[in-house]
Amino acid sequence: SQTDKEILYKIHEIANDFFQQQLFETEEGKSVGYSYFKERDLRDDIIRKFQLGYSPEQKDSFTKFALDKNYSKEILEKSGLSIFPENTPTGVDRFRERVMFPIHSFSGRVLGFGGRILRNNVKTAKYLNSPETEIYHKSNVLYGLNQSKQAISKNNLCLLVEGYMDVIALHQAGIENVVSSSGTALTVEQIKLIKRLTENVTILFDGDSAGIKASFRSIDMLLSEAMNIRVLLFPDGDDPDSFSRKHPQEFVENFIKNEAKDFIDFKAEILLKDAGSDPIKKAESIRDIVKSVAFVQNSLKQEVYLKEVSAKFGISEQSLFNELNVQKQVQK
Ligand code: CTP
Ligand code: MN
Ligand code: MN
Ligand code: MN
Ligand code: MN
Repeated sequence: SQTDKEILYKIHEIANDFFQQQLFETEEGKSVGYSYFKERDLRDDIIRKFQLGYSPEQKDSFTKFALDKNYSKEILEKSGLSIFPENTPTGVDRFRERVMFPIHSFSGRVLGFGGRILRNNVKTAKYLNSPETEIYHKSNVLYGLNQSKQAISKNNLCLLVEGYMDVIALHQAGIENVVSSSGTALTVEQIKLIKRLTENVTILFDGDSAGIKASFRSIDMLLSEAMNIRVLLFPDGDDPDSFSRKHPQEFVENFIKNEAKDFIDFKAEILLKDAGSDPIKKAESIRDIVKSVAFVQNSLKQEVYLKEVSAKFGISEQSLFNELNVQKQVQK
């Protein structure tokens, strides 16, 4: 309900203050959380800009704090910040012993959190995120949009990365037109948020097989929404965060500007590397690219792209058009 929503916004604001206060003002927060961000070379101004925080080890520190402030068990449960297991007298915090990344709406309200473990260990998920709530629908939110929207408009370009730290690291490197879909498949709602600011997107995904897979899906989604896209793949093992910490700002800027390819060159490069000299795999690669062209929302652009494919692979335009029409049927 409307009043529930207002309370949920308020409780997230309070939680956000709580986690930041823990990071900066408690011994545990300073020695565990703050030092974690320092190990990852984050400057104080960036930690503040993204309102990063820390959730303590104690199992109910936030829940207690909120109950003391007279928030009800029911609303705490609805917020996703507390869990009240059956047959136990008290509630526990969802986020414990993690560094905290508040997730903001377009206009800057806190809707939820991502929390990262401090040491990479195999037992728990690296990131834990807020569940779907009355105010947080992860498919409608882009991480970093609130901090990046002006730069996206000004540059008339939106960089799309995989993770929280990628957004933050690029901001620290002076590249501020960047958002993240936070590891999930890009949605139409998210693309529409970008479209309010620009029609141009450069995809910067991790240089691993998961990154390549995600970029292929995102390409088709973005083409369907009539966005202009370029794609950049980082060297294997790198993501925008690790890359931007290895190289000076100007190098990173030029790398993004110069190495981003149009989607055909990008897909061709990756698929052909896989195909080697196998003619069947080569034909499948071409079909895969034509499949993406079928998502292009303008027949003139489709023709230009098919000419590019034709020249690149030495396949007649007629065969490519036939395949395009097959693919368009399939998509309907
Ligand atoms: N993610 C998630 N849950 C996980 C793993 C990943 O929600 N268990 C999301 C996070 O938003 C994360 C993004 O997917 O930022 C990208 O995942 P990955 O590349 O594995 O993590 P990084 O962002 O590179 O994390 P870090 O640099 O902190 O290790
Ligand atoms: Mn809703
Ligand atoms: Mn990854
Ligand atoms: Mn990554
Ligand atoms: Mn990373």
